Amino acid sequence: MSFQTEIVKWYLINKRALPWRDTTDAYVIWLSEIILQQTRVEQGLPYFNNFLQNYPTVNDFANATETQILKLWQGLGYYSRGRNMLFTARQIRDSYSGVFPVKYDELVQLKGVGAYTAAAISSFSSNESRAVLDGNVFRVLSRYFGIEAAINSTEGKKQFSELAQAMIEGQQPSLYNQAIMEFGALQCKPKSPDCSNCPIQSGCYAKKNDQVSLLPFKLKK
Ligand code: ADE
Repeated sequence: MSFQTEIVKWYLINKRALPWRDTTDAYVIWLSEIILQQTRVEQGLPYFNNFLQNYPTVNDFANATETQILKLWQGLGYYSRGRNMLFTARQIRDSYSGVFPVKYDELVQLKGVGAYTAAAISSFSSNESRAVLDGNVFRVLSRYFGIEAAINSTEGKKQFSELAQAMIEGQQPSLYNQAIMEFGALQCKPKSPDCSNCPIQSGCYAKKNDQVSLLPFKLKK
């Protein structure tokens, strides 16, 4: 079985039930991904539910005041995320007729939306074949394939994004992206991962070469 098939198979058995996985609404996915940017899932979950209850659509969000948004944001930190979201919601209300874009090339132009978030929203909402590359994906790919380039070097970023994109080809983009992130979060964990119970240990470079604790490599800058 291929790496990708194993990852998806593992995901279908082990995934957490998370509310943003039951939707293809780009607004809802955007909301979840921005909240989760510097925040753990358990911490972000009540904020996500609260925002969605108060602002069920991007137009509802756009019509809020900054004071209202920052009040709901209280405790999450990095308040520029909340401010950028309000700017973006208003732009979508005013320039996109309130229809949240779903294409990667449009999404990356929005304030606060980088390559990762655009890949997540486009793949989860419209199955565009764009590989997500976050800390989880760097870790899984570096260990399994033995990529020793630094994840924060120019060469490393290029190598990882090419490999990540090659892996998603031929897969269901939404399913595969969710799967590899969840695999990184729950199975291929940063510290002391349970490799003896890992379904892809036999093909894993880091496991075979005793480098699990050394990968991914990051340059101190
Ligand atoms: N962290 C960031 N995005 C996530 C997602 N879609 N599911 C689970 N954890 C995440």
